[in-house]
Amino acid sequence: MSAYFNEANSAHVVNERMAPETSPRLQEVMGSLIQHLHAFIKDVQLRPEEWETAIDFLTRTGQMCSAERQEFILLSDCLGLSMLVDAIHHRRPEGATENTVFGPFFVEGAPEKTMGSCISLDEKGELCLYEGIVKDLNGEPIAQARIHAWSDNADGFYDVQQPDQQPKWNNRGVFTTDADGRYHFIGIKPVSYPIPDDGPVGQLLKQLGRHPYRPAHMHFMIEAPGYDKVITHTFVQGDNYLESDTVFGVKQSLVTAFDPIEHPQAQWRSTFDFVLVPHPRTSTAT
Ligand code: BEZ
Ligand code: FE
Repeated sequence: MSAYFNEANSAHVVNERMAPETSPRLQEVMGSLIQHLHAFIKDVQLRPEEWETAIDFLTRTGQMCSAERQEFILLSDCLGLSMLVDAIHHRRPEGATENTVFGPFFVEGAPEKTMGSCISLDEKGELCLYEGIVKDLNGEPIAQARIHAWSDNADGFYDVQQPDQQPKWNNRGVFTTDADGRYHFIGIKPVSYPIPDDGPVGQLLKQLGRHPYRPAHMHFMIEAPGYDKVITHTFVQGDNYLESDTVFGVKQSLVTAFDPIEHPQAQWRSTFDFVLVPHPRTSTAT
């Protein structure tokens, strides 16, 4: 085959340039990426003006990124890539709590709270009692599990999106389980909200006729010594956007009933048990 680049041999010629000492994994990943990108351009017979549009889109996506805004992750989320990487690498046995998308609104350092306390600080929204057990696949409670919880406020914004309007750490808290593995705290019944759609990703969604909404959810991250970290949400059953989440994060096992209750502090109750698997996993999945 000619060493000069042409339409027929394009991917091969580019991949041949990789030095033999390139790490095997980088060779595998870049080799496949080049093959797929070249095949894609041939498949759609990409026009020069379309290529320019794509370069401009990616440039604007990069320019939108800052310490507070990660437009590339948002792009990955909206194209289903974040959920696909997670699905491949967090295959868990039946009964274990499933992961979902992490999202851009987790903040390290949220206050440690005592069990039962309220994480909503802005007095907006309907309050909900969140409760359940952190346990293993055999139903044994897990002590000393750290539960990070965070949600939007009743207007559909996270505290970090409105630093001048919301109290710091509004709707965020970290709880640690006792020997019984139980947790309970008060938060709001979350509301559905649009992902930040004032940038290139929002424009793309509009052009594709897609809405930017996520169904209402409470974020959780559960860490316990010896167990796989769980990054997940519980979704509010009955939400209008469950089947069209713009970042494809919904799983049936995470859709949770929010039931009305008589309680001095809360109008709703949401019960969810988190089931963790040992780390490294003992299942047959890899
Ligand atoms: C979130 O749930 O906070 C989120 C996830 C992905 C993209 C944007 C927001
Ligand atoms: Fe969220």
